[in-house]
Amino acid sequence: MDNLLGANENLMNTYANLSIVLDHGKGSKLYDINGNEYIDFTSGIGVSSLGYGHEGWVNAVTEQVKKLAHTSNIFLNEPVLKLAKKITEISNMKKVFFANSGAEANEGAIKLARKYSYDKYGEGRNTIITLNKSFHGRTITTLKATGQEKFHKYFYPFTEGFKYTDANDIDSLISCVDESTCAIMIEAIQGEGGVNPLKKDFVDEIFKIATKKDLLVIFDEVQCGIGRTGKLYGFNNFNVEPDIITLAKGLGAGLPIGAVLCNEKLQETFKPGDHGSTFGGNPVVTSGALEVLNIVSNDSFLNEVSKKCNLIKTFFKNASSSKVKEVRGMGLMIGIEITEEASKIQKAALDNGLLVLTAGPNVLRMLPPLIISNEELEKGLSILLQSIENV
Ligand SMILES: Cc1ncc(COP(=O)(O)O)c(C=O)c1O
Repeated sequence: MDNLLGANENLMNTYANLSIVLDHGKGSKLYDINGNEYIDFTSGIGVSSLGYGHEGWVNAVTEQVKKLAHTSNIFLNEPVLKLAKKITEISNMKKVFFANSGAEANEGAIKLARKYSYDKYGEGRNTIITLNKSFHGRTITTLKATGQEKFHKYFYPFTEGFKYTDANDIDSLISCVDESTCAIMIEAIQGEGGVNPLKKDFVDEIFKIATKKDLLVIFDEVQCGIGRTGKLYGFNNFNVEPDIITLAKGLGAGLPIGAVLCNEKLQETFKPGDHGSTFGGNPVVTSGALEVLNIVSNDSFLNEVSKKCNLIKTFFKNASSSKVKEVRGMGLMIGIEITEEASKIQKAALDNGLLVLTAGPNVLRMLPPLIISNEELEKGLSILLQSIENV
């Protein structure tokens, strides 16, 4: 173990990782190489939506990897066609492009929005408004789309054409829109930014302005999509219909995928040569994603996710801890704002057999697998509360 951890030196120093080496998982539990068991409230930052070792998903990917692992997009493959049909149908969208990550999906969405505007209005109408505290990825363009200056610091020059406004501030949004604006990109619940849900009147105002000025509305559903909030998409909580949706994380359930979905308005925008990806739409990954959608797009599954949200909120209400300032979020995307340093609680929880995330200095973030049982959830919550109380 010590020798193995020493090899961490060979990885670039980009993650402040917790020093455990994970070995295997089953359901909502993970085990390290020393045999220690952990309840998982992280699902690999919202990826392992079906938990670990899910039979249907494992069969889907292993059968496909034996049959055909990769083709390139010069050819078609069966899983990508099936997934494209399913995902556009259940999302009420017209077309989909498959990529490999959230950042890549957002890059695709930004290109799509700018091309739509260029085709219709010509040069100069290319600014995208995003929100302060948002997170859209780590590439040079999606970092600039991310409304958090701390991420920009060392990496100038960036792609131009982004403006930021505060979430839930309608006046600031209105003052941001001008003749150069082509789109507004938002997360229904900001994940990395602290688990901040948008308010309905703000979302309604975005759609009002967008309709008036022919702006595109892009929902970044990379973290809050695919059942995470108890609805298929985070924006379903607001009863609106975006022009573009981006996906990744939970759709892959353990393998890398990204997706850009668009409505009728944008269905002719991309032409051959405008965009592409070598691995995008890979048959193994898309076989697994199809299994995810077959499970997650079911109303009774989604209702269970919502019930678990109630369980979490009731737990903290009953606990009435003076160290818990607020519990917010939807479904199984929950932020717990505390009076203590979140990273300290995260380490204490780890020592007590629970894996949990942070989202900023004072927010603990829960993103458990969507299939977590009530029993595991309750046990994990008790460990979390104990860790908060005892610090
Ligand atoms: C809302 C949102 N968008 C985009 C991304 C970037 O996704 P990826 O890390 O797969 O590039 C993330 C990652 O946390 C995210 O939460």
